[in-house]
Amino acid sequence: MRKPLIVGNWKMNKTSSEARVFLREFAQSHNGSSQAEVVIAPPFTALESVRTALGSSSWIALGAQDLHWEKQGAFTGEISGPMLRDLGCSYVIIGHSERRTLFGERDADVQKKVRAALACGLFPILCVGESLTEREAGQTEVVITNQLSAALDRLTDNDLGTVTIAYEPVWAIGTGRAATTDQAVEVHHSIRTFLSKGWNTGAASAMRVLYGGSVSPQNAALLLNASGIDGALVGGACLNPDSFATIISAAKPKSVH
Ligand code: PGA
Repeated sequence: MRKPLIVGNWKMNKTSSEARVFLREFAQSHNGSSQAEVVIAPPFTALESVRTALGSSSWIALGAQDLHWEKQGAFTGEISGPMLRDLGCSYVIIGHSERRTLFGERDADVQKKVRAALACGLFPILCVGESLTEREAGQTEVVITNQLSAALDRLTDNDLGTVTIAYEPVWAIGTGRAATTDQAVEVHHSIRTFLSKGWNTGAASAMRVLYGGSVSPQNAALLLNASGIDGALVGGACLNPDSFATIISAAKPKSVH
């Protein structure tokens, strides 16, 4: 069984006081027992307050939205893996399409970030996805395979087993137009095939492959029940406690094929 993983990516939303309010309301919307593992990835500035509000025995894990590949040094404005670990993070989102398109992050940077996360014991959530133009040109599989090969280059089976992949079609992010289950299942299948060709089948089949892009309380059950979809990376809908709680409740464990 792969335990589903639901990740709430707050992006550049919520101050630390707003984060506290969110968590208070969320505790009322959700009864705290879940068949899914849940991660909240607030902005760096709210990590501390989310950690404190969750408490040390929380069933919700803390994630960051990015990291720099160096541990420390003269990198103004950047945040390193050890800093995130120190704040209680266990996950880090890497290579989100907004980082790639708005901030010029390249595959080579993504690869360094994946390695940096693994080196300090953070679980990477590696985002891959095609643009609409790429999809319309029939390039989806090749784009995703290239992103995966660059980011996961020469990882050991052990390392690979701790990585989560998030398939996020760029055209579905923040547009209200989620991929259909058929579209998502097709790409998830090709991601699994890619992983099982390059690594030990045990490691590859234990990995979770999430779907992200306009996941909502309305479409979550359909997407999360689809074959090979092991959870969701949620943006807009995770900012509302009720919506996030509904999405979490839609996640059920699946057998490994
Ligand atoms: P969205 O964002 O749910 O608002 O489409 C998903 C993401 O960017 O991770």
